[in-house]
This record gives sequence, structure tokens and C-alpha cells, in this order.
Amino acid sequence: MIKPESIDSLQAFYDADAAGYFTHRWDRNIVTRADFAATRDILLETLRPQPEQRLLEIGCGPGSWTGLTSARCVAVTALDLSAEMLAEARRRVTAANVTFVRADFATWEPAADTRFDGAYSVRVFEHLPDKTAALRRLRSLLLPGGRVVIITKTAPSIWNGRVRMMQALRRLMGRPDPGRAGGKIENFWMQRATPWQLAKMLRQSGFVNVGVAPVIFRPPVFRGGESEYPLIGERLAAPLLRWHGRLAVATLRWPAWLRLVATLGSESYVAWGMVPGGGPQ
Ligand SMILES: C[S@@+](CC[C@H](N)C(=O)[O-])C[C@H]1O[C@@H](n2cnc3c(N)ncnc32)[C@H](O)[C@@H]1O
Repeated sequence: MIKPESIDSLQAFYDADAAGYFTHRWDRNIVTRADFAATRDILLETLRPQPEQRLLEIGCGPGSWTGLTSARCVAVTALDLSAEMLAEARRRVTAANVTFVRADFATWEPAADTRFDGAYSVRVFEHLPDKTAALRRLRSLLLPGGRVVIITKTAPSIWNGRVRMMQALRRLMGRPDPGRAGGKIENFWMQRATPWQLAKMLRQSGFVNVGVAPVIFRPPVFRGGESEYPLIGERLAAPLLRWHGRLAVATLRWPAWLRLVATLGSESYVAWGMVPGGGPQ
């Protein structure tokens, strides 16, 4: 489904969400901080940034990951649709080797000879209307041996449908929905790719050594999480969340079919691939 008109409304959503996004999503409490740690660990394990590399980040948002990768490579070009998100990112990441660019990845026109050693995007791919075109574009921007790492929301998964379920439960209990600070939810366009679809799209776009694995890999049962079933409180949450984080990293050594099955229990998953050539990686 191609929805180019969604780009303006998505930009408006993220402009409005920019000031609160990092805290709300990644730094609000023990649950969101564990989500951050799990996402960071899988990103670094799968991307494996090297000191001599130039990396491309698509949808950097408030720079949640830009400082981590730029500290491990020679340069990062970090792209985002939202001017307000980029303003947050510039506040958060002051490293001299980062170039922030305001652009829609689908229409971004880098200098003709621009090539990267690797590319990554976290929680952005679900917003790209034409995912195959985006992957072909990425493929053409990467050098031989270049890795791409995409972390995106999972479907199908035990996490799907919980927002509607929680709203129904709240209505039943006569408790109003607390809502969410920031942008209006009606501007929020999203279409998830299943892990097997994304893996297939990566192969069809010319990537090899393609794989998928869970990232935020746990049931949605922690109090303080994003619309989770509030069954487990803070005391029990700490060791459980640590264990789940370690389990997610451990899945990277599981066989491919088991990693694929495991994504059914994940809120987000990672898909990776490599441009052929460039020696062993
Ligand atoms: C959910 S936020 C994720 C931000 C950051 N990657 C993180 O994980 O914290 C999604 C970001 O992707 C950006 N985005 C969405 N579609 C984009 C596009 N076509 N080109 C560039 N950025 C885009 C949004 O502006 C927003 O900042």
C-alpha cells in the first residue's frame, strides 16, 4: 500500500512528539529503560560498527542511538523527516562526526558518489509506505560487504491488539484512557512487515546472509510499560527484564527457524542483511 500523503501527517506527528519522545519511550521507568537496553544491545551486536566505517542512520529521531554508533565509527549521517526530532537529536548528540540531515528517506538525494559501510534504522521501517523501494535504495547506497540492520515493530505477535484490549478493560472498569502526551494519534500512519516478509524483501533487494531475531523479547505484562497488562510490579520486574534482555541477545546464536518463531513473542524484531562482496564478515 503506497500512501505518500501520509508523510506530511507523520512529520506533524513526530514534530509534536519530539520533546517528550525519548523520555516517554526509552527513559520513563524501569520497563522502558530495559527496552532501551535490549534494543541497544541487539543493534550493536548485529550492526558491529567498526572504527573505520561510515554509517547511515534512517529516522534518527531524538538521536536515541546516534551517540552510541558515532562513538564506534568514523562518521554517521543521521536522517530524519521531523525538524523537531532533529533539534532534539542535535541537543543530545554533539559529536563532531555526526551529520544530521532533514529528509524523507524515500526522496533523499545524497551526492552522487555517496556510499556507506553500513546502515541502520530503529522503529522507522513501519512508517515507510514502500519498503521494497527503500531497501533497493539502501542497497545502492552501501559498499560491498556493507551491513544493513533494521529494527521494527513485530506483527504478528503476542503484543498485537493489547492497546484495544486495555482500552476495553479500562472502559469496563470505568477508568478513562490516560492518553499520550505529544502528537495526535490520528496522524500516525504505520504498516508493519512480518519478519518473513522483510527477510524476503531484503533478499529480493540483493542482500545476502539475511536473518531475523527478536529484540524486545518478553510478554507485555509489566506495570509502567506502553499499554501493557499491568501484572508484574517493579520488584519482580528488575530481574525478569534483565533476564529477557540477555535472552534476546542469546537468540542471535539460535538456528534461523527458531529465531523466526521467537519473533512471535517480541514487541520488535531485527532484520539484517549484507551487500555481497567485500570479503568475509
Ligand atoms: C518512532 S521514531 C524512532 C526514533 C529513533 N529511531 C528511536 O528509535 O528512538 C520514528 C522516527 O522516524 C522518522 N521517520 C519516519 N518516516 C521517515 C522517513 N520516510 N524518512 C526519514 N525519517 C522518517 C520520524 O520522523 C521519527 O523521528
